[in-house]
Amino acid sequence: MDRDTPDNARGGRVQGNGKSGARAPEDRRFPRVGDVLPLIAMRSPRITRRARLSSVQSLEDLRRRARSATPRAVFDYVDGGAGAESSLRHNREAFADWDFLPRVLRDVSVVDSSTSILGVPAALPVILAPTGFTRMMHYAGESAVARAAAEARLPYVLSTLGTTSPGQVSKAAPAGNHWFQLYLWKDRQASRELLSEAAEAGFRTLVLTVDTPVMGARLRDARNGLTIPPSLTPRTLLGMTRRPKWWINLLTTEPLRFASLSSTDGALASMVDRTFDASVSLRDLDWLRSEWPGAIVVKGVLRADDAKDVVGAGANAVALSNHGGRQLDRAVAPLRQVSEVRQAIGGAAELYVDSGITSGADVVTALALGADACLVGRYYLYGLMAGGEAGVTTALELLSREFHRTMQLLGVSRLMEIDSSLVRLRAWS
Ligand code: GLV
Repeated sequence: MDRDTPDNARGGRVQGNGKSGARAPEDRRFPRVGDVLPLIAMRSPRITRRARLSSVQSLEDLRRRARSATPRAVFDYVDGGAGAESSLRHNREAFADWDFLPRVLRDVSVVDSSTSILGVPAALPVILAPTGFTRMMHYAGESAVARAAAEARLPYVLSTLGTTSPGQVSKAAPAGNHWFQLYLWKDRQASRELLSEAAEAGFRTLVLTVDTPVMGARLRDARNGLTIPPSLTPRTLLGMTRRPKWWINLLTTEPLRFASLSSTDGALASMVDRTFDASVSLRDLDWLRSEWPGAIVVKGVLRADDAKDVVGAGANAVALSNHGGRQLDRAVAPLRQVSEVRQAIGGAAELYVDSGITSGADVVTALALGADACLVGRYYLYGLMAGGEAGVTTALELLSREFHRTMQLLGVSRLMEIDSSLVRLRAWS
């Protein structure tokens, strides 16, 4: 019989199962109502933001929603990197270069992803990285991120370039584990005041970022004419008609400004270059150690010798980072440095890594190579842009699902079982 021709189309008789002339399952026939009805999944129309976010299956889904919710200059500020964006690309490739070597026949019915980061319990080995001008991405900004992080039991780092003050963040999420990120300014007295403000607001961990003596060359921002706050040029006015919701939110909520900086006018790069201290050295870390009684994380390290030095100067943790490819273009992907730096510092300090993380599987890879935790920035910002606090929650739930599934498929049920035997650098053939 010609299998590609429906029986009934040729007037053939539909046979019952297992009788003479029985049909093979792949033989064609007319669809029957009783077979088709159970396949129809009636969905109620998607009207709420939560429902719109419920179809998100990957970070790329969130990124697409973020792009359509924000003006181009805002999206590009988050999405882009420095220079030719080589580091931005290589950061992601560095993760993709590692294959997994899963174990089988392990009981992975229950998986525990919980850990302790600088002595505080966390649901996952993940920290929400500091990001500047977060209210520019979505008017709910840092408060929304802090609430979602607290709900997910993860630490959140508020940026010096934040648009919400430490006090406001504490008030928004009183139960959260909030850290404060510091760029050292030329005006040391102002830096000192910032530290007191963070300490008074209950922040106990400080993250000193050391890869920004000057701003990286963010070509997308320069081309888009990005200013903080956004200036109303003919181009931005035209943009308003395309993203009316974002603009209405911007114009009907508290004006967008830095919470800790008085000079906010103009292009970001010139503001950073005016304010930040390009002469910062290891001696300043000693100074900071004497000023700050809590834990200190030094973020932006890429070399084993630097890592040893900062741990020697009293850092409790080192964060390997090339600032998400936003500072020195062609700076090495931090993931590639994890094993060497872990060997150099041993167990003297915690080791984190960021830049290029696009899934929970990436976090597992970093742990397998010797990191204690990962920082994620864009991962939650895409969620924030796509749907405010609910979007951040969607992002964190996705990351957690990806992380748990990867652990189960790798045959491990606790973080301490994640080791270098589970990954192998793909050989070039
Ligand atoms: C700020 O830290 C930025 O990367 O833009």
